[in-house]
Amino acid sequence: MHLAKLAFLLLASSTNLIQDASGGMGNIFDIKYWRCVLKKQYTCPDNDIRYYLYTHETGPKRLRIDIRNHLSLKYAGFDPKKKNVIIIHGFNGTESKSPMTIIRNAYLTRTDYNIFTVDWEPLTIFPCYLSSLSNTKLVGQCTAKLYAFIMDQGGDARETTCVGHSLGAHICGMVWTLQDH
Ligand SMILES: *[C@@H]1O[C@H](CO)[C@@H](O)[C@H](O)[C@H]1NC(C)=O
Repeated sequence: MHLAKLAFLLLASSTNLIQDASGGMGNIFDIKYWRCVLKKQYTCPDNDIRYYLYTHETGPKRLRIDIRNHLSLKYAGFDPKKKNVIIIHGFNGTESKSPMTIIRNAYLTRTDYNIFTVDWEPLTIFPCYLSSLSNTKLVGQCTAKLYAFIMDQGGDARETTCVGHSLGAHICGMVWTLQDH
């Protein structure tokens, strides 16, 4: 039921984590001046949040996962007997750039992992830190849906890990909380 092994990987990061910044502050600080994206609609899946699967067999070629299609995981090469890792990038990041690629490639050398990545790049563009912080709630909610989808398709909760960088680590924490009921 829970993400059994929750790895909070906080790599060296240039971003300061602001505890408890309010959405209102986000409006004043960044939306007005930079056209930042602040999500107000909490429905998943959301077009700005994408999920991909990599496996040792398919190599660095990513395959998009659609949680509305129950065959999606199978087509992408998901193996329920393998362990799962969900990798989530941080502020001003994307799933296809360092440091996420370093983590992904490390897992790719192993044959026993389904490697999922969450790309929420459109919701975390520099310098929109405060709206990014607010958007993590939606990304957490949608990643919890991805997690439930993986479990529905036979994934092993005890062998599922979440690795997040910077704000991505917070999202991992939220996914765990959302599953914890
Ligand atoms: C944000 O990301 C872009 C594109 O990867 C990069 O060029 C830029 O240096 C980053 N900005 C900060 C402040 O990290």
